[in-house]
Amino acid sequence: MANTNLANAKSAKNDEFYTQYPDIQKEINAYLDFDPNVFRGKTVLMPCDDPEWSNFTKFFAQNFELLGLKKLVSTSYASGSKKYKMPYQPTILETSQPHFDADKSKTHGKIFVLERDVTGDNRINIEDLQWQYLDGDGDFRSREIRQLRDEADIIVTNPPFSLFREFVAWIMEAGKRFVIIGSMNAVTYKEIFPLIKENKIWLGATGFVTDMVFGVPEGTIVKDSDKAKAERLGYVGNYTRLGNSCWYTNIDHGRRHQPLRLMTMAENFKHSKHKEIRGVGYRRYDNYDALEVPFTDAIPSDYVECLGVPVSFLDKYSPDQFEIVGATESEGKGFSNGLWHPESGVAQALVEGLRVYKRIFIRIATGGGNLLNIRELKNFVMNTFGYTDEEITVESGIMGVPISFLDKYCPEQFEIIGMAKRGAGDPRLKSKVYTKDDYANYSDLNATPTLWGEDGKLYNTYPRILIRKKQS
Ligand SMILES: C[S@@+](CC[C@H](N)C(=O)[O-])C[C@H]1O[C@@H](n2cnc3c(N)ncnc32)[C@H](O)[C@@H]1O
Repeated sequence: MANTNLANAKSAKNDEFYTQYPDIQKEINAYLDFDPNVFRGKTVLMPCDDPEWSNFTKFFAQNFELLGLKKLVSTSYASGSKKYKMPYQPTILETSQPHFDADKSKTHGKIFVLERDVTGDNRINIEDLQWQYLDGDGDFRSREIRQLRDEADIIVTNPPFSLFREFVAWIMEAGKRFVIIGSMNAVTYKEIFPLIKENKIWLGATGFVTDMVFGVPEGTIVKDSDKAKAERLGYVGNYTRLGNSCWYTNIDHGRRHQPLRLMTMAENFKHSKHKEIRGVGYRRYDNYDALEVPFTDAIPSDYVECLGVPVSFLDKYSPDQFEIVGATESEGKGFSNGLWHPESGVAQALVEGLRVYKRIFIRIATGGGNLLNIRELKNFVMNTFGYTDEEITVESGIMGVPISFLDKYCPEQFEIIGMAKRGAGDPRLKSKVYTKDDYANYSDLNATPTLWGEDGKLYNTYPRILIRKKQS
């Protein structure tokens, strides 16, 4: 039997990783610290669980009253449907009940519900959990579990890693709040990154770099180094450490409102602890309009254009401090939001010809909602006042002036909106990005503002400073 298990663990994509109680407690406490009523009056669903021994069910059932829950629902996936085949033995909890059904035990999922005091001790706790067999195997995609999802307010679980993309889509289509575990690699999945960029989902409160230990079924092959690491963290036996797991959520927590304390560019040049920055400074990418910042703690506080940072930045990301502009094209076509120079032919970011690892592009947050782009502004006016495109001309009031304007600049009279120059400009100010379908010299045309010449051809101007008259 042991050999069969080993073979299974090797061949099947193993989804059997059981979350530890302290990890759940630490993460959920962070939401409660931020909002003590976050779970009050809520129905929490835990799909993809094994409620008979799950620490998720245990934690939420034990703290039912403290959290002020309305209802707790936890469902399991039938052992006969699991990819990883292990010897099956129903638990005593199941066999001791009058409704135990040997035929259903392996092929049907179970539902556990906690809603009221059943034992009569005037408390609602784990002793009051009631269970039934589900009609089906408990697949989260089934109609039965979808219905439970639709009735729930918050979904909390560690879903199968192999179905992570599908699971997130399943939550998002129902517009539910959630706290789930996934792999850090999912950050750059093309289905996940756009949600992170739009601040529809974010990382949980527990750090990115924390080692999480998971229980595994008897017979699972665990790398010696992971087993040793789990043992060092106090977990001896059927455990593994997955160094690349983290929490994903769309529930607010305090960590995402703690801005990073950063030094200016000049201070980094003088004092950075990184030899790559100290006395050296920053380099621009060859093929992206952004500055390479290889370490999150080396982000300069006074740089307003785009910066490329490692993915681990997300662990420290506060939407109050930064906006996410995009990511390298190697993570998804179009992800760079126009920062990429396609003529380079290389999707990964290059610094002096050398490829750097995945990068996310960020910029200091300006508070959003600033309708700088003339098309956005026109659409806004049309939608608000009911004009058609032909009926109105919209002027942003923004003017492009030579750089020598700065010599005469008086901040009481004008505000500087930005710069019209590749690499220095705000991409939102651009009303046109030329592509090879427009002109052969499209890349040059994108470098600075363009004007039509009398000969009917487009020409570049010098870089321009974009200014607007201040409201008096
Ligand atoms: C990563 S484990 C986590 C288990 C438990 N939630 C915990 O954290 O201890 C994911 C569980 O989902 C189950 N699973 C796999 N595919 C599933 C599906 N389509 N629907 C529901 N559960 C599924 C797996 O068998 C596995 O037990």
